Amino acid sequence: MGFFSKDIHSLDDLFVHTLRDIYYAEKRILKALPTMVETASSATLRQAFQSHLGETEGHVKRLEEVFRLLGVEARTVKCPAIDGIIAEAEEVASEVADPEVLDAALAAAAQAVEHYEITRYGTLIAWAKRLGRNDCATALQRTLDEEKAADAKLTSLAEAQVNMRAA
Ligand SMILES: [Fe+2]
Ligand SMILES: [Fe+2]
Repeated sequence: MGFFSKDIHSLDDLFVHTLRDIYYAEKRILKALPTMVETASSATLRQAFQSHLGETEGHVKRLEEVFRLLGVEARTVKCPAIDGIIAEAEEVASEVADPEVLDAALAAAAQAVEHYEITRYGTLIAWAKRLGRNDCATALQRTLDEEKAADAKLTSLAEAQVNMRAA
């Protein structure tokens, strides 16, 4: 399904399309996080990535629950945005020699990912409510709250520790 084949005829279609986009993104993030855990040298940063890995597994399951509630097939559509964010993170990480500067790069990359998720879930919740699907909105809100908390944790970790060590 792509925009140029005009498969999206209604807000309902767009809602499902965007759910499949974020489903792809969550699965992609699930694959990237273990490498970030291994690559980080700060124990607290590693711990933050590890705990968000557990939450991300929950996000995938929660999306599957939303697909089930809607009675549509749980499948992905390619999300070039998350592929780009992760590719850029890997590229930068591969060019950083100092492990403490690398931690700053990893924290920044993780926040770029969180912000992508936050924008997507914010939109999906607004659409779910507009479409009268408060059941879906409630489930998606739980994930959004976790994304925001993960982002806030990374901000305080970066400001209190990671950036200082890198400087
Ligand atoms: Fe997520
Ligand atoms: Fe996340």
